[in-house]
Amino acid sequence: MCGIVGYIGQNDTKEILLNGLEKLEYRGYDSAGIATLNAEGLHLFKVKGRIAALRDKVDQSVHANMGIGHTRWATHGEPSEDNAHPHQSASGRFTLVHNGVIENYYELRDAYLADVKLTSETDTEIVVQLIEVLYQDTDDVLAAFSKAISLLKGSYAIALIDAQDTDVIYVAKNKSPLLVGLGDGFNLVASDAMATLKETDTYLEIEDKEIVVVKRDHVHIQKLDGTVVTRQPYVAEIDAADTEKGTYDYFMLKEIDEQPFVMRKIIQEYQDEHGQIKVDADIRHAMLAADRIYIIAAGTSYNAGLVGKQIIEELVQTPVEVHIASEFSYNMPLLSEKPLFIFISQSGETADSRAVLVQTKLKDYPSITITNVPGSTLSREADYTLHLHAGPEIAVASTKAYTAQIAVLTILAVDTARAKGLELDFDPLQELAIVASVMESLTDQKEYYAQLAKEYFTDTRNAFFIGRSVDYYVVQEASLKLKEISYIQAEGFAGGELKHGTIALIEEGTPVIAISTQENVNYSIRGNVQEVAARGAKTCIVSLQGLEQDSDTVVLPHVHPLLTPLVSVVPMQLLAYYAALHRGCDVDKPRNLAKSVTVE
Ligand code: G6P
Repeated sequence: MCGIVGYIGQNDTKEILLNGLEKLEYRGYDSAGIATLNAEGLHLFKVKGRIAALRDKVDQSVHANMGIGHTRWATHGEPSEDNAHPHQSASGRFTLVHNGVIENYYELRDAYLADVKLTSETDTEIVVQLIEVLYQDTDDVLAAFSKAISLLKGSYAIALIDAQDTDVIYVAKNKSPLLVGLGDGFNLVASDAMATLKETDTYLEIEDKEIVVVKRDHVHIQKLDGTVVTRQPYVAEIDAADTEKGTYDYFMLKEIDEQPFVMRKIIQEYQDEHGQIKVDADIRHAMLAADRIYIIAAGTSYNAGLVGKQIIEELVQTPVEVHIASEFSYNMPLLSEKPLFIFISQSGETADSRAVLVQTKLKDYPSITITNVPGSTLSREADYTLHLHAGPEIAVASTKAYTAQIAVLTILAVDTARAKGLELDFDPLQELAIVASVMESLTDQKEYYAQLAKEYFTDTRNAFFIGRSVDYYVVQEASLKLKEISYIQAEGFAGGELKHGTIALIEEGTPVIAISTQENVNYSIRGNVQEVAARGAKTCIVSLQGLEQDSDTVVLPHVHPLLTPLVSVVPMQLLAYYAALHRGCDVDKPRNLAKSVTVE
């Protein structure tokens, strides 16, 4: 979703802003812009479309050592140059970038901006115009900025520059992420540390509704009432090299290939010096105290949560419910007496999940966030965090985060089960090591999957994935992967449910991919495959060694039955990747999607 980068220092700012915005491309956007400021004034460049087009438009002869930049994912108003950020106030004095959604923008417009001619359809322009109107009353930019922030309702991360002051960027946030990066003689502003890792690894967190004044050699934080805040910086754990594609054409394939390493990293990080599982004692106590666990997530993380439910219920014997975050916050079910909330989020920034966390915190329910970004909002605001250790995931379609989430949930489940005194014939660290090797053998067969994808998905307009039991959960992720990046309409169904309606959609040649890794449903899912084959479907069965039949298209090497999702998903990821490639789609940046969805 939208991204912000800002710089104030000694160096020429164009390249820093453009490089930063390129690093934010993965979040999804449809227009972009930068504004730089020097003694001659403000220089504004905006485009509809990609950063490459913005790069061509920026006047290389303009040198300035401060500025702000933005990638916009349209919410209010179509993607266009007029609606692209930065936005300016009527006189051109104030220039601003904004992420999020201002909920009371009509009210603000009617109350303060009746005489102002607006030039865009955005909620953002209201903010910058409001600051100018408020400035006319106070003659004090900081006071006008603070007053404007106090009037805003909704989510925002904002960076403002004043054409008459080349020494300061004003910053504030509410619900949307924003960080200040610290350097020697320069400072930065970023909605995501990824944008500025080339310049610094040291960051200051900003809390909601703080007013931050960023200068070259100083950062001042105050609350809305003027109270000064002091805060220690932290060092980001991301290695800048992890954010490069290297020899790969697309991040998605790189990230699929990284999954065995991520499994091994998780084994290493969650192991003590005796080779035993290591989980924070407070997290264990929270798990033990719960009479029911509520997993809250969106998208791929939700699909990982479904698998997590299966694993936790089987090992820990505690009931688990998995909920789509955006539904849960407006339609909360009756809760048990001692609920524990587990938020699963690769980015740790998903607004839908955060909305639930805010509600559960008000009720003092304990919470754990499982995330790939330890300093993220969901991580900071939950009681406890379990880190995925997957390294930055840049492709919009999530792959290594999904398998990391399932691996970490497995470790959590085993730790709790043991603490409960339950007998387990299951060593998760050993089993995950086997999973890592199997993943490697699968990712070594890329040509085979490229060929299969060509055969099944080159011309089709739709596709179905079926499975039973835990395989049903995996086919939901398989179909999400395919539709996200190839735009083929794909659905994941419970094998037994297909004939209750959806089988009507099966025509001659419709691809139906079945996963069969569970002994107790092996025959029944094969029966479901026969049903669709009899109606003309082009079928493919992905089975597990020991359950296979001669005609199966893929036979996965054996892994523990609880962990089959970790390996059965890999062919699905590869099929989706090659289907998108064959159909000429932009694999890493699918249309309309955003990596980190910071609006509800
Ligand atoms: C977006 C992404 C999905 C992701 C979902 C949840 O919709 O496009 O790939 O699964 O958000 O993201 P999270 O960061 O909370 O896991």
